[in-house]
Amino acid sequence: SSGRWKNLSLPPLVMRVSGLLLGIAGGYIAWRVLNAKLFNALGRATSMSGKVAVVTGGTSGVGREACKRLVSRGVKVVLAARDMALGVAVCRELQDLAPPGHKDPVAEVIHCDLSSLASVSKFAADFLATGQPCNVLLLNAGMFPPNSQKKSIYTPDGFEVAFQTNHLSHHLLARLLTPKLKASAPARVVTTSSSLHSPSTQGGRHG
Ligand SMILES: NC(=O)c1ccc[n+]([C@@H]2O[C@H](COP(=O)([O-])OP(=O)(O)OC[C@H]3O[C@@H](n4cnc5c(N)ncnc54)[C@H](OP(=O)(O)O)[C@@H]3O)[C@@H](O)[C@H]2O)c1
Repeated sequence: SSGRWKNLSLPPLVMRVSGLLLGIAGGYIAWRVLNAKLFNALGRATSMSGKVAVVTGGTSGVGREACKRLVSRGVKVVLAARDMALGVAVCRELQDLAPPGHKDPVAEVIHCDLSSLASVSKFAADFLATGQPCNVLLLNAGMFPPNSQKKSIYTPDGFEVAFQTNHLSHHLLARLLTPKLKASAPARVVTTSSSLHSPSTQGGRHG
């Protein structure tokens, strides 16, 4: 091989390093392509067709994207939303992701304001009255009190609004739906969290 290197104008070390870098780049691209194909195949293989997911905070951000993923895997989504008009708009958006020929609604919205314990109880009762299973309970909604407020804001239930919205109401909802989750097994409760909950972060130390 040393004879081959001699015929090239670039020094052997540069050639070897370039070859090595090209090899690494090629390997990386092949791994990414293979990984994407594998991921798609696994996604198809693990279809969740016929399952039902109850999602809080599905009208925006992380929750809305989660709803899209769920629907594309065949899951029916029930949005627990405080803004019904927004919830209906998201349901329409989700219906467009339904597989071709799929006629049944892939999403519906039931009113739920997490800053009110009565509203959470009403949501649970309304959902249970539909008779649907609950295979996934995605507790995702979250809010920050406005920065401009110097004082804490309290809900009519008497709790600080973020504590009630993000934590207490989700706890109540999970408790109210636990029998349904058990009856719908296999089922999962998934909570969207934040590093702010960790005492090891700067936010967590203050929060
Ligand atoms: N985005 C991030 O970088 C980040 C980082 C760490 C953790 N998280 C956590 O991830 C979750 C989602 O965050 P995101 O950024 O996607 O939030 P987002 O876009 O602000 O969406 C928040 C969702 O919660 C809903 N919500 C707020 N208050 C509610 C109430 N009283 N009753 C019912 N629904 C209510 C909102 O409904 P409306 O549409 O009606 O407002 C909206 O759908 C949150 O729990 C958040 O703490 C996010």
